[in-house]
Amino acid sequence: MKFALNKNSVSEMETECLVIGLPEGSALAGSAAAIDQASGGALQRLIDSGDIDTTWKCTTMLHGLDGVTAKRVLVMGCGPAAKFTAIRYDSVCEVAGALLRDHIAENAHICLHELETEERVTHWRIRQAAIAFDRANYRYTATKKPKEHDHNALAGISFNAGDEMQAALDEAQGIAKGYLRSRELGNMPPNICTPAYLAKQARKIADSYANVSVKILKRKEMAKLKMSALLAVGQGSANGPRLIVLTYNGKGDDSQPIVLVGKGITFDTGGISLKAGANMEQMKFDMGGAASVLGAFEACADMQLPINLITVVAAAENMPDGKAYRPGDVLTSMSGQTIEVLNTDAEGRLVLCDALTYSQRFNPSALIDVATLTGAAVVALGHQASAVMSKHDDLAEELLEAGQNIIDRGWRLPIWDEYQPQLKSTFADMKNVGGMPAGSITAACFLSRFTEDQRWAHVDCAGATWQWGTNKSSTGRPAGLLTQYLLDQAG
Ligand code: BES
Ligand code: MN
Ligand code: ZN
Repeated sequence: MKFALNKNSVSEMETECLVIGLPEGSALAGSAAAIDQASGGALQRLIDSGDIDTTWKCTTMLHGLDGVTAKRVLVMGCGPAAKFTAIRYDSVCEVAGALLRDHIAENAHICLHELETEERVTHWRIRQAAIAFDRANYRYTATKKPKEHDHNALAGISFNAGDEMQAALDEAQGIAKGYLRSRELGNMPPNICTPAYLAKQARKIADSYANVSVKILKRKEMAKLKMSALLAVGQGSANGPRLIVLTYNGKGDDSQPIVLVGKGITFDTGGISLKAGANMEQMKFDMGGAASVLGAFEACADMQLPINLITVVAAAENMPDGKAYRPGDVLTSMSGQTIEVLNTDAEGRLVLCDALTYSQRFNPSALIDVATLTGAAVVALGHQASAVMSKHDDLAEELLEAGQNIIDRGWRLPIWDEYQPQLKSTFADMKNVGGMPAGSITAACFLSRFTEDQRWAHVDCAGATWQWGTNKSSTGRPAGLLTQYLLDQAG
């Protein structure tokens, strides 16, 4: 979707739909007042008669208002002005965007950023509206024809704001691109989205930017590096594993990069420790971490941020097979530490541990892995937030703040050393599962053994990256959180 500035008068705006917001019980202001005036008080009359509901997220579509050039006016209820938080603002934008996607309009002019939102400036309000409309406008079509009654989605939206707000729209364009990339990869069925497919998409990203390069490692190269943990997870699948390394040089020097590592299990059957059948198709989302780091990478390249960034994706498919790894196997990781496999369904930490060891060669200023690592993270936080774990308070804070800013939130869990004994093994340096208590934390404890001396954080996005129910879909999260973090690091 294209985002643009348009400074024509709101009542004479040539658009298929004007979108305005009305706080409950306040006098009409800004564009709402201008539309009311141009239409001879029509808006106020509809409010007074109860035909316009200003309750939060209530919508009223008005057609052919006298004195107003726009074909339609979509009135968004915002609830009490005092309660109009950034979160409420974001969801009003999202509801409006979803309504327009399913409506006949192909373009719209958005006035919602005129509304005061606690602690957020105009730049944020415009940017967030643009991202929210874009997200809501999404429709999956990769392997399905749109239905006849599906209208064309919105092609563009505009805002009335000063030229200095072009920067907000440019940022939004990059962020939206990252979310979209992440979402499309997440939703793609696992017979198409294989490790090789992820590698191909990474190649395409690299081909689009002069300062991006890509390196792809297959079984042979991984074996040379002694990545036995990653190889073990992939050994039961005909779709061989890949280690994908994207490098973005935005600083023009060789200063320390930020390194993002993504779990790219393109399908997780559980392996020999086979998962139950019900809902197993959801395990196509098990590359949500990889999708997010690729999305954030693309957003960074699109915005040409002045940072150095490396994205490493550990891609594999976890299958049961005659060649598959098994419970009881002891693996020697690239780090030299040995791992007793107690459950082949705890495969994410195995691909990540080798990817994290590998990543240290880049001497990162921050090393962040992103993974749909544990069902326990879904139990703890549902689909509302990613679990953030780090021994570095400053890094954890930076990630939480970024998530809060862009409303792709994280929530912190501890990784105290007191949890480490849960990983004790009789036959190896550690086992790959820590038992029932604190499942997300012991998974992070496992990874911590491969990131000693690193400024490292772990983001478990098992719940945040997809939603279930009738709207079962990838959300693209936490690509937004990561992109905001990169923006913040760029200054
Ligand atoms: N990919 C799953 C985690 C997951 C579960 C993501 C539900 C999204 C929704 C992961 O590989 C897994 O199977 N984890 C196990 C670990 C256990 C065996 C220690 C889990 O959480 O049950
Ligand atoms: Mn698993
Ligand atoms: Zn998994």
